[in-house]
Amino acid sequence: MARRTTRSPRRTTKSQSAVLGIDIGGTGIKAAPVDIDKGELLQERFRIDTPQPPTPRAMLSVIGELIEHWNWKGKIGCGFPGVLKRGEVHTAANLSHQWVGINIKDQIEKISSCEAVVINDADSAGLAEMKFGAGKGYNKHGGGVVMMVTLGTGIGTALFVDGHLVHNTELGHIEIDGKDAEKRAAASVRERKSLSWGKWGGRVNTYLQTIEKLLSPDLFIIGGGVSKKPDKFFQYIELKAKIAPAEMYNNAGIVGAALAIELELSN
Ligand code: BGC
Repeated sequence: MARRTTRSPRRTTKSQSAVLGIDIGGTGIKAAPVDIDKGELLQERFRIDTPQPPTPRAMLSVIGELIEHWNWKGKIGCGFPGVLKRGEVHTAANLSHQWVGINIKDQIEKISSCEAVVINDADSAGLAEMKFGAGKGYNKHGGGVVMMVTLGTGIGTALFVDGHLVHNTELGHIEIDGKDAEKRAAASVRERKSLSWGKWGGRVNTYLQTIEKLLSPDLFIIGGGVSKKPDKFFQYIELKAKIAPAEMYNNAGIVGAALAIELELSN
């Protein structure tokens, strides 16, 4: 049975800028109302374990439960770990393949009767960092190229050019020495294989240097749980670009998901 945080449902007062942010991940699905002007959670987040196997049916039922928990009636923004085009799932590397071809935006709108936008999870975390976190100074015309890299179960990437998001970059799947990069350098690999910080940091370095060769970003923002511990592995990374840990920590996923509602074309 899925583990839940035990909090009683809340009725939420909504202002124009309140959007329900839902961060859909391989291990947990988290939601909270977000003030998208301030980048702050309006209430403590509510989390439910991702059902295993992570099939669309089981996960949509959890998403429905979260929306109901908040008794939500306003707009909803979601981050999902895969490629999305106008709400349709094109890939879901760390979830069930049954997701491919499903329009998750339509499904959420059907469950909730609310307007919803769904974008890639790294893209949404990047939106939060660009507006409120480590990328703030680059979020403008002439701001240059920013590459957000989330190191978690997989590797997610979000590319920003002068503050504009280029959706669905999926550079966590570039091949390095014949292997999918996320299978070598995701944070989950360090834990699963009990790699030392030095060994894993070296792998992250090779990965980031490869991205640097291809795209010459001005700034790398490193997200995921490990962004709280840059002192453990930043010393193994040598880049020409600046590198900064994400500043929004765990909230980037939820805040960024809510910010997706602001995108003119939700891809
Ligand atoms: C997926 C990406 C996702 C990343 C982080 C990768 O396996 O292909 O879409 O952004 O994991 O969740």
